[in-house]
Amino acid sequence: MIPVSAEISKLQQKFGERLQAEVALARYTSARVGGPAELLLMANSAKELAEMISNLWELEQPFLILGGGSNVLVADAGVRGVVVLNRARHVRFSEHSMPPTVWAESGANFGLLARQAAARGLSGLEWAAGIPGSLGGAVVGNAGAFGADLSSNLIVAEILHRIPAMEATGQHIARREKWSKERFGYEYRSSVLKRGSEAAVVLSAKLRLMNSTPDAVKARMDEQTAIRHRTQPPGASTGSMFKNPPGDYAGRLIDAAGLKGTQIGGVQISPLHGNFFINLGNATASDFYRLVELARNTVADKFGIGLELEIQLVGEWLVGEG
Ligand code: EPU
Repeated sequence: MIPVSAEISKLQQKFGERLQAEVALARYTSARVGGPAELLLMANSAKELAEMISNLWELEQPFLILGGGSNVLVADAGVRGVVVLNRARHVRFSEHSMPPTVWAESGANFGLLARQAAARGLSGLEWAAGIPGSLGGAVVGNAGAFGADLSSNLIVAEILHRIPAMEATGQHIARREKWSKERFGYEYRSSVLKRGSEAAVVLSAKLRLMNSTPDAVKARMDEQTAIRHRTQPPGASTGSMFKNPPGDYAGRLIDAAGLKGTQIGGVQISPLHGNFFINLGNATASDFYRLVELARNTVADKFGIGLELEIQLVGEWLVGEG
C-alpha cells in the first residue's frame, strides 16, 4: 500500500523526529546496493522495536525490518513505506547457568556474538563466526554453516506476535510471546516466519552454549574461518544467493554450468565460489537480478534443476525485474 500524505502525517504524529525520509539503504546492506527507504525508523532497543512495530500494526502501515541486511537485495527504486532498522544490540552472557547461555536482542551482529562467546571460553557458536547478519535474521532464516544451524542453539526467543483480538471484529493485538525452538517449524534455511505464515517479529533470543576454554573455542573457530577464507570470496555480497537444492549444491551447479567469473554490469559471479555474487564497486540491484536470472535459466536448461533464492528481494522491483 502506498502511504498517502494523511498516513505519513499520522506516522509523524506517532514518531516525531525519529521518522526520517528518503534514507539511502545501500550502506545498510552487505551487497551495498539498493535505493532509499521512503521512511525510516531506527530501533535502538528491543523495547523500542516492540513499540514501533505495535504502532505500525495499529496504523495498518506495512513495513520492512532490516537487521544486518545480509540476506536481502533491496531494489534500485528503494522501499516504499516504512523501513525499521533494527539496532537493538544488547547482549548478556550467563556463564554460570546450566547450560551456559547468551541472551541478545535481535539486532545484535551474529558473527560478533559468536566471537564474544569464544573469548569467554563458551563453545557452540564456532560455526557462526563469519556470518554477517543479525541474530534476528539468523532466527528467522535458520542461518547455518559447517553442518550446524541456528535451530541447534536456540532455546527460546521473545516474539511480538500479531494475532486476531476477536475473529468477528477483524481487529488485531500485538502480544509478546516466548517461542521455543519447536514453535518456529524450522527447516533448512527456513521457519514459519520466513515462510510468512505468521505475522511476528523477533525481539530477542536465548542460545545454548557449552563450557570450554577460550583457546579451544578459538582454535575450532580459526579452523572454520580458514576453510571459509579458502572457499568463499571476500567483498560485498549477499552471502549464498541460492539455497542448495536437495542432494546437490547451488555453487557446484553454477560452476558446472561454466558461469563462474561471469559479469553483468558491476556484479560478478565469484571465480572462487559459484553461489557468491560480488559487487565489484558500482553494481546496481538490477545487475544482481539479471545475473540471478542468467544463473537460474542456465542451470535449469543444462541440468533441469530450478534454483530457489535464499535471499529475499525487497522493495519496488519492476515487473520482469524481480
Ligand atoms: N562447489 C563447486 N564449485 C563452486 C562452489 C562449490 O564445485 O564454485 C562444490 C564444493 O566443492 C563442495 C560443494 O559444492 O563440494 C559445497 O560447497 P561449499 O562447501 O562451499 O558449501 P555451500 O553448500 O556452497 C554452505 C552454505 C554456506 C556456508 C557453507 C559452509 C548454503 C546455501 N550455503 O555453502 O552458507 O557458509 O556451506 O558450511 O547452504 C549462507 O547461507 O549465506 C552461507 C554462506
